[in-house]
Amino acid sequence: MASSMRSLFSDHSRYVESFRRFLNNSTEHQCMQEFMDKKLPGIIARIGDTKSKINILSIGGGAGEIDLQILSEVQAQYSGIHIKNEVVEPSAEQITKYKELVAKTSNLENIKFAWHKETASEYQDRVMEKKELQKWDFIHMIQMLYYVEDIPATLKFFHSLLAKNAMILIVVVSGSSGWDKLWKKYKSRLPRNDLCQYVTSSNVTQMLDNLKIKYKCYDLLSTMDISDCFIDGNENGDLLLDFLTETCNFITTAPPALKEEIIKDLQEPEFSVKKEGKILFNNNLSFIVVEA
Ligand SMILES: C[S@@+](CC[C@H](N)C(=O)[O-])C[C@H]1O[C@@H](n2cnc3c(N)ncnc32)[C@H](O)[C@@H]1O
Repeated sequence: MASSMRSLFSDHSRYVESFRRFLNNSTEHQCMQEFMDKKLPGIIARIGDTKSKINILSIGGGAGEIDLQILSEVQAQYSGIHIKNEVVEPSAEQITKYKELVAKTSNLENIKFAWHKETASEYQDRVMEKKELQKWDFIHMIQMLYYVEDIPATLKFFHSLLAKNAMILIVVVSGSSGWDKLWKKYKSRLPRNDLCQYVTSSNVTQMLDNLKIKYKCYDLLSTMDISDCFIDGNENGDLLLDFLTETCNFITTAPPALKEEIIKDLQEPEFSVKKEGKILFNNNLSFIVVEA
């Protein structure tokens, strides 16, 4: 998933809808599922070694769909072990959805859930104040670093919370994605959003290098079918354009020159490929695995 909050849309319901269209028209979730099925088991193979309980911290866990996939992989690896899953999530709406999902999912008996309605930095302040520096066996930050003000400080802090054999999994859009090119080329002309930073895996790995923190980075292919964006008056296309540009009603509000340029660029090979009559935007994702 790219983002359920990458933007400060004045019309929140339109933004939610544009995000839904993004998910429906992209392989974002399939790409994550593939990573969780194929790569995650090897990555988490040792996080619970010699432990009676596994502590997992989800930062920006959203509505929990990906979190539950992760939990099911951990359960498969460490059958019957007790798991504590704490979620740091500022959106009350997302927490409600997450709780509903947990309530209707079976086989979660060995997992104790707790939700904290707060941001990553509020969590940091709270635990530092209480001097309650609990260690975690697995921390994940999936498609959420865009909203963190000081990313290096956040990475450094959560890295300091890793227990023995523990890992952090970070998912952000890849430095090889169309997002990277779009943001680099157009960020100065798109509405400024202070709550959201244009970060890709290239930026995050650079920050980790500067912090001398070890990591491995896996890139997975993902696409977003943007064919409808080139059909005049197509509602789906207009909503997808809103998502791409992080602008509410881009098609009716953007200066004509900008609109024309973006529409043209989106069809160029550095942004998209043409396949079976469709135009597929490069939505590649990076999975960065940070070691303790
Ligand atoms: C794109 S969603 C990702 C949700 C989930 N990780 C997933 O992949 O399905 C980003 C989430 O980060 C949350 N978020 C935004 N700012 C945050 C912050 N400063 N600290 C923690 N979470 C934040 C949002 O409320 C949202 O649920």
